[in-house]
Amino acid sequence: MKNLQISHLVAGTMTWGQWGKKLRTKEMVALQHFYFEQGITTFDHADIYGNHTTEADFGKAFAASGLDREKVQFITKCGIQMVGKNRSHKVKHYNYSKEHIIKSVETSLEHLQTEYLDILLLHRPSPLLDPKEVGETVNKLIETGKVKHFGVSNFTPTQTNLLSEYVPVETNQIEFSLTTHEAMFDGTLDHMMLKKIKPMAWSPLGNYFKKQYPGLKQLMPNLCEKYKVEEDALLIAWIMKHPAAIVPVIGTTQPKRIKKAIEAKNIPLSLEDWFMMLEVVSGNPVP
Ligand SMILES: NC(=O)c1ccc[n+]([C@@H]2O[C@H](COP(=O)([O-])OP(=O)(O)OC[C@H]3O[C@@H](n4cnc5c(N)ncnc54)[C@H](OP(=O)(O)O)[C@@H]3O)[C@@H](O)[C@H]2O)c1
Repeated sequence: MKNLQISHLVAGTMTWGQWGKKLRTKEMVALQHFYFEQGITTFDHADIYGNHTTEADFGKAFAASGLDREKVQFITKCGIQMVGKNRSHKVKHYNYSKEHIIKSVETSLEHLQTEYLDILLLHRPSPLLDPKEVGETVNKLIETGKVKHFGVSNFTPTQTNLLSEYVPVETNQIEFSLTTHEAMFDGTLDHMMLKKIKPMAWSPLGNYFKKQYPGLKQLMPNLCEKYKVEEDALLIAWIMKHPAAIVPVIGTTQPKRIKKAIEAKNIPLSLEDWFMMLEVVSGNPVP
């Protein structure tokens, strides 16, 4: 098995299509090129994005982009069964049966117009997930070359350990940001460091632009002034200071914001400023 390769930031595609910006093919091609030229070569998908339309929209654009498939990495996820148009489900649920995983991978390959997925993730844990069945299925997909690497998303340490008995779990994509930082204290990130599982952080800006956080909103302008950066870059720098080498999965579709996210790795965020940000967002003194 080749080593897992992910760029230092991952481009999340959740809002590129019907669930957000509704980018046209030409615009998707331009965005793929922009990310690629900035060194962000890993693209994060899920079968469900855009109500099952974004992978295909992206795949069509990628085929037209002229970019080299060998120089990019495609991540996708399977398992969530949504209720909605074109779906016969009565209730949202998860399906990790052999048949469903295989069908989902085959569909993603077709939509993305590719022979292989660089990383397949199970989107969310399910109480009915049979680790033996999943392990056998994923190992087969790896043997046939349809999947290069396997991981999970939103899994706890014990759920990950159980599955790891049957198939190597190389990454876990979790929700993590300054405003949603439980993974740092509930053992999730410790466990990934211990087991050498690569952490990816979805919604790395958290709720910063969506909620009030009065203390944090007072502090941030001072820090932005000090480091000569904008808030989004500082939020990403805060994640990157964690020793687990967390890879932020950024959701922006705007080139100027992509550039700011890239600046984050060069921000020399001090230890005290890092804790100050944590203290104000928590609303409690660091114990
Ligand atoms: N595994 C999972 O369960 C899971 C769950 C959710 C998401 N994900 C993945 O994670 C990726 C990123 O998630 P996310 O979109 O929540 O990440 P995010 O990077 O935290 O947020 C991006 C969103 O914030 C907006 N934004 C960025 N900078 C801003 C600013 N300065 N002011 C106001 N708004 C700003 C962006 O809008 P613009 O586009 O206009 O810049 C975009 O809508 C998704 O695309 C998906 O691939 C995975």
